[in-house]
Amino acid sequence: MQITINGKQHDYDGDPAMPLLWFIRDDLKMKGTKYGCGMALCGACTVHVEGNAVRACQFPMSGAAGKSVTTIEGLDKDHAHPLQIAWAEENVPQCGYCQSGQIMQAASLLSANPSPTDEDIERGMSGNICRCGTYPRIRCAIKKVAE
Ligand code: FES
Repeated sequence: MQITINGKQHDYDGDPAMPLLWFIRDDLKMKGTKYGCGMALCGACTVHVEGNAVRACQFPMSGAAGKSVTTIEGLDKDHAHPLQIAWAEENVPQCGYCQSGQIMQAASLLSANPSPTDEDIERGMSGNICRCGTYPRIRCAIKKVAE
């Protein structure tokens, strides 16, 4: 099968049930997408498939076949996506482990709803866990980028 990741096409002949996360991290050595729970519960592994946020730890390679995947490395070629800038300006990360997943989830949220309310943000980000409790700063950064 073929899969496009951050605009580059890759061939994959392995187990179609293998999680996309292993292909990204282990085969392509792109380490920005994190492994947290492995059970689609924490959001650390969030990437986009055709623009939609998915949990790569539970998303099979077969689901990504012929599709376009974006990871944190490909969100903006200069790593200067408005959310990344806002994240830095608001000093969002503490340990940082969950933050690439948080940003990918936020990007998906804003593309579906460019002017989210606090409640929309709460709901849209509720599946992304941060053990450092950076939620208030995440909300500020998203609001900064929202229209
Ligand atoms: Fe995928 Fe936690 S590692 S949701």
